[in-house]
This record gives sequence, structure tokens and C-alpha cells, in this order.
Amino acid sequence: MITLALSKGRIFEETLPLLKAAGVEVLEDPETSRKLILSTNQPDVRVVLVRATDVPTYVQYGGADLGVAGRDVLIEHGGAGLYQPLDLNIARCRMSVAVRDDFDYAAAVRQGSRIRVATKYTEIARQHFADKGVHVDLIKLYGSMELAPLTGLADAIVDLVSTGNTLRANRLVEVEHFMDISSRLVVNQAALKLKREPLRRMIDAFASSIPA
Ligand code: ATP
Ligand code: PRP
Ligand code: MG
Repeated sequence: MITLALSKGRIFEETLPLLKAAGVEVLEDPETSRKLILSTNQPDVRVVLVRATDVPTYVQYGGADLGVAGRDVLIEHGGAGLYQPLDLNIARCRMSVAVRDDFDYAAAVRQGSRIRVATKYTEIARQHFADKGVHVDLIKLYGSMELAPLTGLADAIVDLVSTGNTLRANRLVEVEHFMDISSRLVVNQAALKLKREPLRRMIDAFASSIPA
């Protein structure tokens, strides 16, 4: 049995065409079913649904043989025990710093002020500001980062941006785009040895159908 860990929503939706190219069709729809283990047209392949941030953990400990996770999630996790053979080029977005339009970020950086930054991505933010030599107080949030500058919780946020609609709707401006994000295939290293043939076949099938 091969177990593939996916998260509901964009990762599931954007992985479906890649699975199809590998000859795998998921038989249940996660938006209408409450099931967390989905069967496929291949009796020896199943999909398990986990939170996006839990995909690396499932694959690391062998709860799944392979999975699909964003580069953001993989950096935050650390990637220990994971083989990352492919950038799937799906769920593309960017990691950015954003502020209220009345906050002068460039001046704060120039003056060496301490900046309060709210984010779900504390490891990525820590590395980014350390590289820039900017002093920050990081405030860990689990969602709705855009609210932090509006309520005075923070001066800035580090968050994912795609269309920019969420920032615009909350009157925030993107002042630094510092990382490009897409999702990757991650594979459990022990499984790669024990289930070498079927996993190799699946990795190769994914590789030949990655969107441009
Ligand atoms: P949860 O909903 O469980 O809190 P989540 O918000 O991390 O989790 P998704 O929004 O499905 O889950 O994000 C999964 C991955 O998709 C992210 O890790 C990121 O790599 C990518 N992603 C997130 N937001 C966008 C976006 N707006 N456009 C494109 N890709 C995105
Ligand atoms: C993500 C991300 C941003 C938004 C950016 O949220 O956390 O808020 O997308 O995309 P945009 O630039 O196209 O607006 P998501 O849609 O995943 O909602 P979530 O808060 O449930 O994670
Ligand atoms: Mg999200």
C-alpha cells in the first residue's frame, strides 16, 4: 500500500491532475465527504487528508509514504527525514512583508528601529530579518495575519501573497517580496527503500506532468 498525504483545498485540487497523469484517480470528494482516508482507482494507493502544516510530520514518521507540501511549510518544519525529489510548481505564491500604508517601513529599517512583526512563519521571518540585519520582535499567529497591523498588534506582517487581494482588502501594502513559494513532493526515506519500485514509478509520473 502506498499512502499519499495531501491537505484539503488548493493542494488537493492542484495535485489531482498530477495524480491523474500517474494513473491515479481519487474516488471521493473531500469537500462533500467527512472521510479522512480516500480510496483511489488503484487498490494499493490511498490518499490521507491532513492539515497542510502536518504533511511533513506524517511523511517524516511514516504515517504517509509521500506527500505534497508548500516550500513555506517545509522550511518551517525543517525538512528532517524528508527526501524532496520534485518541485511540483503548484500552489504558487510568494512570501512578503506587508505594512499599513501609513507605516514607513523603509525609514524604520534605515533608522534601525525594532519592528514588531506578526506571522505564522516565525522561522522564515527570523531568517529573513537576520539576513537583512534588521531587529524584530516576532509575534506568532496562526491565521488572519492581516489584522495585526490594523489593530496595533504589530507594525508589519510576514505572509503569503498571491493576487494581492487580501492585502488590498485590508489596506496593507507589500513592501518586500523575498521568497517564491511552490509545493514540493516529499517522500519518507525508509519507504523509498522498502517500496522502491512503486514509489519510483509514482515520482517519475509526477515528474513528467509538472505544469510549466
Ligand atoms: P489551514 O487552512 O489548515 O490553516 P493553510 O492555510 O496553510 O492551512 P492552504 O491555504 O491550503 O492551507 O495552503 C497550503 C499551501 O498552499 C501553503 O503552504 C502555501 O504553500 C500555498 N498557498 C497558500 N496560500 C496560497 C495562495 N493564496 N495562492 C497560492 N498558494 C497558496
Ligand atoms: C492565503 C494567505 C493570504 C492569501 C493571499 O490565505 O494566507 O491571506 O491566501 O492570497 P491573495 O494574495 O490572492 O489574496 P487562504 O486563502 O489560504 O486563506 P486561509 O486564511 O484560510 O489560509
Ligand atoms: Mg491558507
